[in-house]
Amino acid sequence: MNFHILTLFPDMVMQGLSTSIIGRAKDRGLLSIEAVNIRDYTLERHKKVDDYPYGGGAGMLMQAQPVYDAWMSVVNRIGYKPRTVYLTPQGPTFTQPMAKNFALEKDLILLCGHYEGIDERVLEEIVTDYVSIGDYVLTGGELPAMVMVDAISRMVPGVLTNDESGSTESFEGNLLEYPQYSRPEEWHGKKVPEVLMSGHHANIEKWRREQSIYRTAKRRPDLLKKADLTNKEWNYVRQLRKQWKEEEEQTK
Ligand code: ADE
Repeated sequence: MNFHILTLFPDMVMQGLSTSIIGRAKDRGLLSIEAVNIRDYTLERHKKVDDYPYGGGAGMLMQAQPVYDAWMSVVNRIGYKPRTVYLTPQGPTFTQPMAKNFALEKDLILLCGHYEGIDERVLEEIVTDYVSIGDYVLTGGELPAMVMVDAISRMVPGVLTNDESGSTESFEGNLLEYPQYSRPEEWHGKKVPEVLMSGHHANIEKWRREQSIYRTAKRRPDLLKKADLTNKEWNYVRQLRKQWKEEEEQTK
């Protein structure tokens, strides 16, 4: 998969995406990541890419022309108009299913805004998807673009090895991942749960599923509503909630 990041800070995104699993996947030819410097496309003498908003108001806006020409340079090179994401707090919040869906694309353009935003007219012409990474405001789209590249890349076949596989991780089936333990068997007086040392695979699976449900009910009750549980598991959730409510009342 090929990522094309349109940005005023190419070094920032390239440095952030060169290490660990993403760097290895690039070396293996599974991914390519390029940063296109929007400033290289300005026709303005002093390489300016921003100007005051018509109608007044705070801050500067990125102008349409350099953004459009930077985008067109990618389109001309790859020979088609790929999905183009504008990173903005005004989009729907990025989720794991969205990461999986974007991972099906051959090319993806990520447009990073700065200052107070980008001239609306160019957004209308080039953007196919508006995406936010959460309900807070950052100074630019670079960190959100890096977050998206990371999450999407790990969904590209071959990027994760079998050991790192994404199949039983948090958000699969709208449940959080169960707790995990490694050596030593006892640390700070805390022992690894007995069942994990038993070698009894069916019991281990049962314990992990129960832990996932417990965790999700406790930490992310909003997710649990969408989870696919058996009747018996829903009864367990009800029992947990009752118990937590009683405990809460006792501490009042
Ligand atoms: N740009 C500024 N803040 C952002 C956010 N929360 N998500 C995506 N892009 C942004």
